[in-house]
Amino acid sequence: MTRVFSGMQPSGTPHLGNLLGAWMNWVAMQDHADCVYCVVDLHAITAPNEHDPATLRRRTVELATGMLAVGVDPERSILFVQSHLHEHAECTWLFNCVAGFGELHKMPQFKEKSAGRGESVSVGLFDYPVLQAADILLYDTDEVPVGEDQRHHIELARDIGQRFNHRFGEVFRLPKAVHPPAAARVMDLQDPTVKMSKSASSEKGIVHVLDDPARIEKKFKSARTDSATDIRHDREEKPGVSNLLEILSAATDRGVDALVTEYDGLGYGTFKGAVAEAVIELLRPIQERYAELDADPGEVARLLEEGADRARAIAVPRLERAKDAMGLLPPGTA
Ligand code: TYM
Repeated sequence: MTRVFSGMQPSGTPHLGNLLGAWMNWVAMQDHADCVYCVVDLHAITAPNEHDPATLRRRTVELATGMLAVGVDPERSILFVQSHLHEHAECTWLFNCVAGFGELHKMPQFKEKSAGRGESVSVGLFDYPVLQAADILLYDTDEVPVGEDQRHHIELARDIGQRFNHRFGEVFRLPKAVHPPAAARVMDLQDPTVKMSKSASSEKGIVHVLDDPARIEKKFKSARTDSATDIRHDREEKPGVSNLLEILSAATDRGVDALVTEYDGLGYGTFKGAVAEAVIELLRPIQERYAELDADPGEVARLLEEGADRARAIAVPRLERAKDAMGLLPPGTA
């Protein structure tokens, strides 16, 4: 069976980009693949400005609760917290000795996040994609459902795996990224030229998965479009309208062309109202399920513990094989 692995950072609260770009695919893939999903808390401590210990603990639980609420099914899939397995950090060290400084330095996300911070940037931020490669390769992963922004990181994981296999023998399976057909890159509602992101400067441009209906409606009604009135998909000339079309497409599972035919000529007001309504309907059952789970944190903790045990059963033998292949002496042998 195809093995799927993906992760999300407990930094900020999950938004529509996370849901449409990744989570909906995570849930759908459970029908035909063997899925492993992870709250990547070790990644979340690489940005010092955002790292407050109490907040991190709270967000880790909230994110796991959110994953269960969207439909990650612990009966069929493995859900766990990255730091519960020291194997991820250990494998990162092995890969640090395979990855090149140059290829890490070129990573677009590192460039973006380190810009203007000079020498104060942490080594962890630089090494972030290597930890991500360890996450993926430890699970014999075939497919990684992610948004467009993660494409370079998945390619790097593949390169590291390939290089390792070439130098030390076949140990790791090589993964590929899988993106959704629409909304692989959800843009900020106020500035549709940048992606919707937890670190955006204004709240108005981000729709959170737990936003209430009135707030969602308000955000879509004030979404930035252009001064024309035609509704068509053109990311260059009409980034705002195109973003809304993609959101509506992903939320209703209808093609962008069919939506253009339906809404062109009706005006931006009607169109924005329809997008808001579709998103509110998409989020309603998720929010209800979240409230139920939130009332029972003991159950979430139990599921995460069970998930970590099942994750360990896959990751430990793979790590042992990698160490052995590199010539690290197994304990008890001489
Ligand atoms: P993170 O936590 O930033 O985002 C989680 C997922 O949401 C997707 N995403 C988006 N998709 C569409 N439009 C957007 N505006 C948008 N914003 C975020 C991301 O592409 C991602 O799929 N490095 C990863 C976490 C990670 C990981 C892994 C992912 C760590 N280890 C192993 C896959 C496999 C990250 O920062 O995602």
